[in-house]
Amino acid sequence: MQSQVHLSWGKLPIYEPGLDDLLQKSRSRITFSNKVNRTLLNGSELVIIAVGTPPKDDGDADLTFLHDAVEEVISCLEEGARTVVAIKSTVPVGTNDMLVEKFGSMLPGHRVQFVSNPEFLREGHAVYDMLYPDRIVVGARDRDAVGALREAYGPILQRSFVKPDFITDGTEKDLPYFIVTTPKSAELVKYASNAFLALKISYINEIAMLCEKVGANVEDVALGMGTDSRIGRSFLNAGIGWGGSCFPKDTSALIRTGEKHGSELSIVRAAVKVNVSMKDYFLQNIESALGGLEGKVIAVLGLSFKPNTDDVRDSPAIELVDRLLKKGAIIKATDPIAIDNARKVLPESGKIVYEEDVYKALEDVDCVLITTEWPQWSKLDFERVARIVRQKFIFDGRNCLDKELLEGLGFIYKGVGK
Ligand code: UGA
Repeated sequence: MQSQVHLSWGKLPIYEPGLDDLLQKSRSRITFSNKVNRTLLNGSELVIIAVGTPPKDDGDADLTFLHDAVEEVISCLEEGARTVVAIKSTVPVGTNDMLVEKFGSMLPGHRVQFVSNPEFLREGHAVYDMLYPDRIVVGARDRDAVGALREAYGPILQRSFVKPDFITDGTEKDLPYFIVTTPKSAELVKYASNAFLALKISYINEIAMLCEKVGANVEDVALGMGTDSRIGRSFLNAGIGWGGSCFPKDTSALIRTGEKHGSELSIVRAAVKVNVSMKDYFLQNIESALGGLEGKVIAVLGLSFKPNTDDVRDSPAIELVDRLLKKGAIIKATDPIAIDNARKVLPESGKIVYEEDVYKALEDVDCVLITTEWPQWSKLDFERVARIVRQKFIFDGRNCLDKELLEGLGFIYKGVGK
């Protein structure tokens, strides 16, 4: 309800670069409502459903919001309407078929088509990824339904839209692929893609652990591997692991789907296991360097699950802070934009304070943790930092600081895999 009011005023309830500007420009052509109704749907050829599918306790995707949304949409469509209902929400394989089975009898004259149209955009880059996607995947049973999606995506497929001013890089890339397949395959493309990216990160993290043992540098290894065009350099940044509202939820849901169909998906399980172990490893390192955590004052730089977002859902930073607090540490946390959201999950107390000013967060601390690679951190005045901290320990969980510079200033610097 609150989000609807904000959006109607032209205000975004989340932080997403460039989106506020687009919203302002398009306000007169968008109506926001928290209820589907006949007037809203009247004459719609395409309805896109993009509700959340949060994880249930057993890891499966909770489809309650999806079912409610589909039911509302179907009940508001006019008799004999020709409408394509595209499911953009991330849903387990077979969901589209299940929707046809469940709601098929409610569809007047079978003129409503359910299509799977998974989303691949990243938080923090959502506008760019929407306008310059690598591919648009459509899982459909009917040629007309494919046509409706092709038409809707026309300006993106042909790149005929007006480029927003804030996008300056990456506009020369190839035009997107338009991939047409079955609903089941489209649904699986989404999970298989996210799980693959997650395992790519877990793989480099496991290699990073080996680098530490043998005295190699994971950044050089990632570069050497990533310049092989078959491998690619992206998603090979070692660190404290992946988080967010997608990879943890989608790897769990994929594993659940595998269980239901007798498929082990052992590689995806291993990726999840490595991801958990990265946080254990990082904590152990801090604990042994500081000789225990009880009463130690620790500055935590970065709370969101990655830069350019205020989203703290399943953020590795939040998990680490929580575990440090349980071990008796005192936390001074900071983030350029995620403090308000972090406060909601880890309320301020005698044990944790949030500081808007990063230098205040760094005053009199026993060690500094870098948990999210905000570009601001590498631009800090480290001579000043060296003067205000109590002990000069820096644990860089995102490998984003300059080791030589810090060691030159007398810091004990520890990255991941180097
Ligand atoms: C991810 C996918 O990248 C999108 O394609 C997908 O559409 C989206 O999930 C979704 O399912 O909605 P997102 O969760 O926004 O996007 O974030 P990513 O940029 O993929 O990063 C995920 C996590 O991996 C972050 O915690 C990030 O810090 C970590 N990461 C990423 C690494 O640790 N190393 C890397 O090299 C890259």
